[in-house]
Amino acid sequence: MKVHEDWMKPSLKEAQKRTDQQAAIEKSLFNIPFEARNIGCGRKYFLRTYGCQANERDGETIAGILEELGFEQCHTPEEADFILLNTCAVRKNAEDKVLGELGSLKRLRKTNPDLLFGMCGCMAQEEEIVDTIIKKYPHVDLVFGTHNIHRLPILLYQAMMAREKTIEVYSKEGEVIENLPVKRFGTHKAWVNIMYGCDKFCTYCIVPYTRGKERSRTVEDILDEVRELKAEGFKEVTLLGQNVNSYGKDLQLVGGFAGLLEEVAKIGIPRIRFTTSHPWDFTDEMIDVIARYDNIMPFIHLPVQSGSNEILKIMGRRYTVEQYRTLFDKIVSKIPGVGFSTDIIVGFPNETDEQFQKTLELVDYCQFDNAFTFIYSPRAGTPAAAMADNVSLEVKQDRLNELMEHTNRYARLKNEAYAGRVVKVLVDGPSKKNERVYSGYTETNKLVNFTADQLIQPGDIVEVQITDVKTWSLDGEAIKSE
Ligand code: 5AD
Ligand code: SF4
Repeated sequence: MKVHEDWMKPSLKEAQKRTDQQAAIEKSLFNIPFEARNIGCGRKYFLRTYGCQANERDGETIAGILEELGFEQCHTPEEADFILLNTCAVRKNAEDKVLGELGSLKRLRKTNPDLLFGMCGCMAQEEEIVDTIIKKYPHVDLVFGTHNIHRLPILLYQAMMAREKTIEVYSKEGEVIENLPVKRFGTHKAWVNIMYGCDKFCTYCIVPYTRGKERSRTVEDILDEVRELKAEGFKEVTLLGQNVNSYGKDLQLVGGFAGLLEEVAKIGIPRIRFTTSHPWDFTDEMIDVIARYDNIMPFIHLPVQSGSNEILKIMGRRYTVEQYRTLFDKIVSKIPGVGFSTDIIVGFPNETDEQFQKTLELVDYCQFDNAFTFIYSPRAGTPAAAMADNVSLEVKQDRLNELMEHTNRYARLKNEAYAGRVVKVLVDGPSKKNERVYSGYTETNKLVNFTADQLIQPGDIVEVQITDVKTWSLDGEAIKSE
């Protein structure tokens, strides 16, 4: 067993710092050291990813690395030789789920004494969590963070072959690494990172600390990836960044995200999506590009967080409700049929009932197609976590329920507008319950379950007539092709 001094644990203080230095783009940093070659041969891994799409995409990189080491993926923890949880730190309940899972999976050691446990992702970037893992979850053999995924081969070698408990978490982001392997989990839809990290520092949010400062990939590297995906038959790409609107600012790129989006659209892949957009720097050029290209999907995730100017100010969101509404209206007027989703937090420290009512007013105004609603969760090290809070959990829960009554009503209302219409659906595959029912998504990101007389393959884009609507999905029938 290694001594504690050899472990590299995360430091919040370090993670809070920002440098002006541009991140280097590394084309050959990832490699598999000789001793780690084939360490996975004859072994199986079970990977479970929590959280956002950035984490999902990291999961694909991790799976790619593990398979280059010879591991084979399995889909139940019972079959695995290596169990890895790729975690999310955005709210405490996400963390509790992981800790519960780590605790309950420990039993598998009894039947498989060589079983290796690992934890990575955003929770691994938290000082407190790593200390908890060391103290209370001694069966965890390997901890690594979001900034050193490329080190997995050697870390795994240490933990598995040299049998040393291995903890290595960088507190600061490093290079943009371009030669990491990837195992895509989708067959026709792919995630494409365009940038990493976040410099917005909303006062409630842990992401700027767990994922470091904003670093953009180059336009050419992104376009190459999209061209390759198109050549492989992928039908949809989702461009990923904690705030895609900031794309290119660190590289002093002229054109920014709008310019990149246009270049991606010109490649001609059938569907392009992007997430997440911050209302503060959503430009007119971006709206124009989305409106101009048929293959950029008319659906925008535009987190508002609160409908109260006072709360928005304390959250550090950099816009007012009036500015949000103006942006929202502009997008609606320029992009016909556009759909919106949003994120909303209730129960921010000291939120008054009046301030909460303002959030309901905003929801009534925007009538979002979909809203992700959360109770505020204090995150250690963020400015909001140090704020006194006079709102009880009971009140927060009541507010969440009331908010959800509104958001669900509008989700249904928005779906009702689709009754009888013909929509284009990118097919994911047959539904699990009934082979003759297929499912997929419209351009505006609505889930459609539909029947068809003709044979349909995942990845097809078919026209479907909507026959029935529900709150969270639409039902329909494929229109017969000639
Ligand atoms: N508590 C509750 N919700 C949060 N989010 C981010 N940080 C917190 C927090 N501390 C929500 C925001 C964000 C989404 C990804 O998660 O709404 O947009
Ligand atoms: Fe969770 Fe945020 Fe990390 Fe994504 S970036 S995994 S949402 S904490």
